[in-house]
Amino acid sequence: MNAIQILGPKTNPTVSLNRSHPLPTSDPNTPDSEILVRVHAAGITADELTWPEVYSASNPTRIPGFDISGVVAALPSTYTGPLSVGDPVYAMLHPDRGKGQADYVYARPEELARKSECLSHAQAAALPIPALTAWEALFKRAWSSTSIPTGDASSLRVLVTGASGAVGNMVVQLAKKVVGARVVALASGAKHGYLRELGADETVDYAAADWEREVGMKSVDAVFDAAGDGVLARAWATVKDDGVVVTVADPPPVWATDKGAVPRELEGRPGVRYLYFVVSPDGETLGRISGLIDEGTIKPLPVVEFSVDKAVEAWDFARRRGRQGKVVVNFVADA
Ligand SMILES: NC(=O)c1ccc[n+]([C@@H]2O[C@H](COP(=O)([O-])OP(=O)(O)OC[C@H]3O[C@@H](n4cnc5c(N)ncnc54)[C@H](OP(=O)(O)O)[C@@H]3O)[C@@H](O)[C@H]2O)c1
Repeated sequence: MNAIQILGPKTNPTVSLNRSHPLPTSDPNTPDSEILVRVHAAGITADELTWPEVYSASNPTRIPGFDISGVVAALPSTYTGPLSVGDPVYAMLHPDRGKGQADYVYARPEELARKSECLSHAQAAALPIPALTAWEALFKRAWSSTSIPTGDASSLRVLVTGASGAVGNMVVQLAKKVVGARVVALASGAKHGYLRELGADETVDYAAADWEREVGMKSVDAVFDAAGDGVLARAWATVKDDGVVVTVADPPPVWATDKGAVPRELEGRPGVRYLYFVVSPDGETLGRISGLIDEGTIKPLPVVEFSVDKAVEAWDFARRRGRQGKVVVNFVADA
């Protein structure tokens, strides 16, 4: 089968296409709980090249890719769930198993959801990690689904950094359309019109010398950071003293891995909550995302599609800044 592989050391990886990779085999420990999916399209998260899972001993094939859309090719004989062979599905695969950038992959039932009929496979393959990350940031980390002050949600004001990226796009839409918050989107000026169409109430250019003042000092209830580093360093100043800062950007800040560390920007501000997390697979939430797309509440991500024979170019393109759209590799033509 066709499979993308990341070869070489983490310090100097190369992406290559293997046209005769062996078909996958199910996990011998859990043969009854794995569903074979014929992958039609797989999304690229370019930073995956820096993620340790790709290089771990549990991934000898070095096939990357956690976000897939395709059709059920085979079910375990003991399967009693709702899916049938031929059903269109999409998933985020568990990072320990990954391997989605290939013609076939095994997925667990709890990772899969039915693909929305409104989406092509390419559009669906772009969604899982960005949508699940945004959902988890809003509804499980910053607030729980019961602690969002929905009664007065319109008085909530949130800042989204990296707003034009895949994760930021989903945070903007869910914060506006599902929570009902007032959304400030930080992005390059060229993306402001599109972000307003998605629902952003205010747009601020990250190229401005004092963008944090434009957002307003201590003026937002929550910061959702998908840009990290220097952007996160400046975003702390915008959060209220009883607000929350959630970052997912790679590489994670020092305080995320050193549990004793406190962001120096928060000295003297004990009321600000802050957290970094790594997203988990969640087919149930993907089912809700399909529903939100079907009813027109949220729009799919823009995608830039590459056929599998152009997979190496796809990975190069996915690493470029300023592009518009999530990069997807099609393993079936017209996915
Ligand atoms: N922790 C997790 O579970 C998790 C899950 C998903 C993603 N992530 C990480 O989250 C980040 C965002 O992912 P993504 O898929 O949304 O990436 P993406 O589509 O490439 O978007 C990145 C966004 O950040 C902006 N950006 C990058 N550098 C910036 C800078 N120096 N100043 C201002 N804006 C900057 C980009 O703006 P331009 O287009 O203008 O450059 C773009 O809007 C990545 O680091 C990714 O690895 C983590």
